[in-house]
Amino acid sequence: MEYKIALLPGDGIGPEVVAEGIKVLQAVGDNFGHSFTTNTGLIGGCAIDETGTALPEATVALCRESDAVLLGAVGGPKWDNPDAKVRPEQGLLGIRKALGLFANLRPVSVHPLLIDSSPLRPELLGDVDLVVVRELTGGIYFGEKRRERDANGEWASDLCLYSQHEVERIVRVAAELARTRRNKLTLVDKANVLETSRLWRSITTRIMRDEFPEVQFEHMLVDACAMHLIRRPSDFDVIVTENMFGDILTDEASMLLGSMGMLPSASLGAPAPDKPVRMGLYEPIHGSAPDIAGQGKANPLAMILSVAMMLRHSFGLEQEALAIEASAASAVESGTVTGDIAKPGQSAKTTGSVGDAVAGWVRAVVVNP
Ligand code: IPM
Ligand code: MG
Repeated sequence: MEYKIALLPGDGIGPEVVAEGIKVLQAVGDNFGHSFTTNTGLIGGCAIDETGTALPEATVALCRESDAVLLGAVGGPKWDNPDAKVRPEQGLLGIRKALGLFANLRPVSVHPLLIDSSPLRPELLGDVDLVVVRELTGGIYFGEKRRERDANGEWASDLCLYSQHEVERIVRVAAELARTRRNKLTLVDKANVLETSRLWRSITTRIMRDEFPEVQFEHMLVDACAMHLIRRPSDFDVIVTENMFGDILTDEASMLLGSMGMLPSASLGAPAPDKPVRMGLYEPIHGSAPDIAGQGKANPLAMILSVAMMLRHSFGLEQEALAIEASAASAVESGTVTGDIAKPGQSAKTTGSVGDAVAGWVRAVVVNP
């Protein structure tokens, strides 16, 4: 089967980590006999510079005719003014919305060898293996925004709105995922204050009772969750939450691991029952890291692991995804890593040499016919 992938390298270290992701994808194609074709589009700051907008129409069209999207990172000091009319983040928010990518999966697990890069005590981290399922196309991010002036001065508002349908579909994605893991789901909300959270609470409670009775279900207020993520992170399996809480909690959760350079993410749309592929956008959690761009210092593993998520979630290629994940683990185990996760006394490898090594291991995997 032939798969069409849109590449949106973006800004900063985006292009260099995407290049390593492609190396590894090519290795999968050669070893497992798939054909991946790629086409590149503009997004973020580089798109603003070339076209005046962070998300050119051509980019949306390219993504729409592809089976999946790989994105590097957007943004940088050059475009950093939050009051500017066009900003790189509009590209990211716009493409999520345009492609209907409502379910954002952000897994966090800690490789035993990397436990000491975390700022937390090692005994807290041993069994950490959680996924945050963040709602990605609704809530306060996309509600009506106002900025006005009256006799008392300026005022502003951001509307947070959720419909029953938006909550139901993301809860089902999260509960189905829990079923393939440790059968536990935590809804994170602020139901003691917010009406949207009370809607989330009642819908989720009903769905879990009626459709997923075998999945252990709990709800937790977002402030308490922020605390428990640090105090007892290994108790979590799947967390489901609204857009903004998910944004904040996933940055916090990434620090369980110490480096953001290791964490992939998937943003999925609705499954299309009549199609063999499910549209998704895959990107590392880290940003564009302009301070190290172009120096070969960026850790490509988050991007490479995002490629694994693409193979699993968009194309259903589980063996291939596992081959990439095992090869990324080999990089860590053999010390073939960039400076952000190198141990004292280990020499830091370049972005390109980490990608070469991982691609080499993927090529060496023995494929069962
Ligand atoms: C993320 C980022 C984005 C978000 C920003 C860049 C708009 O923080 O993907 O988590 O808030 O969703
Ligand atoms: Mg964020």
